Amino acid sequence: MRAVFLGVLIWSCVLCLDFNYHDNESLENFLRNMSQLYPNLTKLYSIGKTVENRDLWVLAIGRNPDTHQPLRPHVKYIGNMHGNEVVGREVLLHLIDHYVTSYGNNDTITYFLNNTVVHIMPSMNPDGFNNSDIGDCFGGKGRGNKNGYDLNRNFPDYFATNTAPTQPETSAVMNWTLQIPFVLSANLHGGALVVNYPFDNYPNANDIQKYVTSPDDDVFISLSKTYSYKHNNMFYGNHCEDVFPDGITNGALWYPITGGMQDWNYIQAGCMEVTLEISCCKYPAPQTLPGFWNDNKQALVDFLMRVHSGVKGIIYDQDGKVVPSATLKIKGRELVSFRSSKYGEYWRILLPGTYTLQVFNGIYVTERSFDVHNGQATRLDIRSWTAASDSTAMHQGGLLLGYIPILLVLLITCYQMKLFFFN
Ligand SMILES: *[C@@H]1O[C@H](CO)[C@@H](O)[C@H](O)[C@H]1NC(C)=O
Ligand SMILES: *[C@@H]1O[C@H](CO)[C@@H](O)[C@H](O)[C@H]1NC(C)=O
Ligand SMILES: *[C@@H]1O[C@H](CO)[C@@H](O)[C@H](O)[C@H]1NC(C)=O
Ligand SMILES: *[C@@H]1O[C@H](CO)[C@@H](O)[C@H](O)[C@H]1NC(C)=O
Ligand SMILES: *[C@@H]1O[C@H](CO)[C@@H](O)[C@H](O)[C@H]1NC(C)=O
Ligand SMILES: *[C@@H]1O[C@H](CO)[C@@H](O)[C@H](O)[C@H]1NC(C)=O
Ligand SMILES: *[C@@H]1O[C@H](CO)[C@@H](O)[C@H](O)[C@H]1NC(C)=O
Ligand SMILES: [Zn+2]
Repeated sequence: MRAVFLGVLIWSCVLCLDFNYHDNESLENFLRNMSQLYPNLTKLYSIGKTVENRDLWVLAIGRNPDTHQPLRPHVKYIGNMHGNEVVGREVLLHLIDHYVTSYGNNDTITYFLNNTVVHIMPSMNPDGFNNSDIGDCFGGKGRGNKNGYDLNRNFPDYFATNTAPTQPETSAVMNWTLQIPFVLSANLHGGALVVNYPFDNYPNANDIQKYVTSPDDDVFISLSKTYSYKHNNMFYGNHCEDVFPDGITNGALWYPITGGMQDWNYIQAGCMEVTLEISCCKYPAPQTLPGFWNDNKQALVDFLMRVHSGVKGIIYDQDGKVVPSATLKIKGRELVSFRSSKYGEYWRILLPGTYTLQVFNGIYVTERSFDVHNGQATRLDIRSWTAASDSTAMHQGGLLLGYIPILLVLLITCYQMKLFFFN
């Protein structure tokens, strides 16, 4: 019985995922098949509809992925945001296949899926995909959504005003990203072979290419190198007639853009995101797909494993209740903050070193220093707020309220001592 079941499983998967392009219908059938074959390991859901009414499908993978397990982080991959950049779309389907078939067979992946939820959206722009042409390596047909908007120029921008009307695909992704406490993410593109990391823009940007350093530059470089060096050849940095040392680049140094998704994820959603450019040709012949999967497989798996480094913990208030939506900052990196989840959890990827976490909960502030080592993330829960030093509290913006009682006392004392010329 078991053998028959296994046989059917293997047979159906050989059958179900070939190296070919999957259109709207076969993509949806594949995802449905996965969620039926692996009910305890996957959860299929749609985050909304495109202009042409196609679903924006996401397959979540992890042990019982729709249950909450304290401090289990969420990560994501988004493919095919530019509808004519299609290799990511197919590679993500193979990644799904790889995860579900490795669970229980490979300890590293089993452990990872026991302790992480991976959300995979093979296509953010299925309408554009439907409008693009196989073999079109460098063209722009199908790049935008049905309304002709480039979705990677459609997000609110920290450095500039984005006047483009927000498209349904974009608002669905923003909504989704703000609902799930994603920690790490990548979006997959084509047309080059490089990892691009924040920032992508700068104030009053013109065409001048310049390195715009984010406060987590060290982390982004390290995450990007994890990808480029685990990739079979990206790290050489000499593909598609480009030169990218280590196969990575700062976004604005390559070319500044307004409305990109990665800066929005990082700045507004507290999720570290990079952009993966994984093929010189945007829509190559299907015969090239096995090679692309082979080149990216280890990189895709190992990049997401980095979510388990840095620091994590749960924020409690004085009464022992978890604190949702507390604002968190790492000292020296205050420009970009992040938030605790609705269960009070937080995660932040950091390289080994000594850091200070700042926690803002209404008018209460606390600071804790901690060390990050190689390997698993440091656990740092916040339970006691009494230790919050007054000097810390006083120096944070928005905390002037803290001075009011002191000022009142001073004023009353002064009055009583007739230090003021009240008469
Ligand atoms: C889905 O599974 C059915 C059988 O359960 C199979 O006939 C079909 O080919 C599969 N389709 C895809 C796209 O995986
Ligand atoms: C996409 O595929 C699904 C499943 O086959 C189908 O129900 C839907 O109508 C398709 N949408 C379009 C616009 O082709
Ligand atoms: C899924 O989990 C349930 C309850 O834990 C179990 O009874 C069932 O056998 C599992 N199904 C599969 C396909 O593993
Ligand atoms: C298990 O998966 C990990 C991560 O992809 C990989 O490095 C390792 O080689 C795999 N182990 C086996 C025995 O295949
Ligand atoms: C994964 O979780 C299952 C269920 O708790 C457990 O039986 C298994 O040993 C775990 N495997 C690994 C490698 O962590
Ligand atoms: C676009 O979708 C329609 C309806 O599903 C389909 O007939 C057509 O072949 C698709 N075109 C491309 C290029 O995918
Ligand atoms: C955003 O999420 C809320 C709550 O799930 C939902 O009601 C709303 O329709 C969503 N908006 C979009 C644009 O998807
Ligand atoms: Zn692109």
